[in-house]
Amino acid sequence: MEFSNSKKTILSGVQPSGNLTIGNYLGAIRNWETLQNEKYEEYNSLYCVVDMHAITVRQTPAELRRRTMETVAIYLAAGIDPAKSLIFVQSHVPAHAQLSWVLNCYTMFGELSRMTQFKDKSAKNAQNINAGLFTYPALMAADILLYQADLVPVGIDQKQHLELTRDIAERFNQVYGNTFVVPECYMPKTGAKICSLADPTKKMSKSDENPNACVLMLDSKDDIIRKFKRAVTDSDTSVRYADGKDGINNLMTIYSCFTGKTFEDIEKEFEGKGYGDFKMAVGEACADGLAPLQAEFKRLMADKVYLENLMRENADQASYIARKTLSKVYRKIGFLAKP
Ligand code: TRP
Repeated sequence: MEFSNSKKTILSGVQPSGNLTIGNYLGAIRNWETLQNEKYEEYNSLYCVVDMHAITVRQTPAELRRRTMETVAIYLAAGIDPAKSLIFVQSHVPAHAQLSWVLNCYTMFGELSRMTQFKDKSAKNAQNINAGLFTYPALMAADILLYQADLVPVGIDQKQHLELTRDIAERFNQVYGNTFVVPECYMPKTGAKICSLADPTKKMSKSDENPNACVLMLDSKDDIIRKFKRAVTDSDTSVRYADGKDGINNLMTIYSCFTGKTFEDIEKEFEGKGYGDFKMAVGEACADGLAPLQAEFKRLMADKVYLENLMRENADQASYIARKTLSKVYRKIGFLAKP
C-alpha cells in the first residue's frame, strides 16, 4: 500500500494467542475491511498481528509461530487488501519494543493497576503474573502512537486501554510539546461484542477452555452447526431481543451480522417457531458466511512464499514509518544521537 502523510491513519491489531473466533471476525476484522474501503480516501489503514502481546501469557513456540502466520492469512482472506492496507507482524518492527520502554517510563503504576484486563488475567493466571502482563498497555500505546494513528477500532473490552493510551500521549505532549496524535476510539455499531455460546454473559474468548463456548473462523460446517445447537439460551420460547435473554440476544446479533437482517426482521422470521429452528438457521448462516473466507485462507496457506514476501516488505515499510516517530521521541527525551 501507499502510505500517505496527508491522510489520517487507522490502526488495529489482534493477538495470535488462540484460534480466531467469530467474535474476532464480527467484532474486529470484518469492520476493518469495511473501514479500509469506505475510508480509503481519508485514511491509511494499518493492521498488526500483535505477537509481542501474546507472550504475556505462556505460549507454545511452534504454535505461536503457526498462529502468527495464520492470522496474517486470515486478515487477507477476510478481505484486508494489501494494496490498500498495511498488514504486518509486531515483532518484525523493533520500534514497538523501543517505544514501549520509553512509554513505560511515562505510565504510572496506579494507572496500570486499575486496568480491568490486568486484574482479570492475573486472576486467571495466578502462577504467572509477570511484569509484561502489567505493562501490556504501554506496549499497546506504542503500537498506536508510533504510527500517529487517529482512529483505533476496538471492542468495548479494549476501551480502557485506549483511554490510557490517550492519557499517555497527552502527558508526553504536555512535557515535550506536540509529539503524538491523540487517538480516538472507534466502535462499530453492531457486532462489537459477541458472547460465549456456553455463558452468554461473557465475551467470546479464543482462550476459553470450553470448546463449545466459541465458534472458530476456521471451524467446519458440522462443528459450527453442532456448537450452535448446543448454545445456551433460556426457558422462554420466543425469538425476540430482550433484557435477560442474553443467549438469544447473542444469537440474534450473530445472525444479523451474517445475514444483514434487523432484529425486527428476525423476530418476524421466527414467529411461532422454536429455538431449535432458530439455532439451525444461525449455524447455517454462519457456516455459509465463513465458507468463502475459509477457501481463500486455504489457498493462501498453500502459498508460503507469497505470505513471507508480504510480511517482509510490510515490516520494512512499517519500520520506516515507525522510526520517524521513534527518532523524534528519542531526541525530545534527551537520548544522545548516535554519532
Ligand atoms: N490489546 C488488544 C486486544 O487484546 C490488541 C492490541 C494490541 C491492539 N495493540 C493494539 C488493538 C493496538 C488496537 C490497537 O484485543
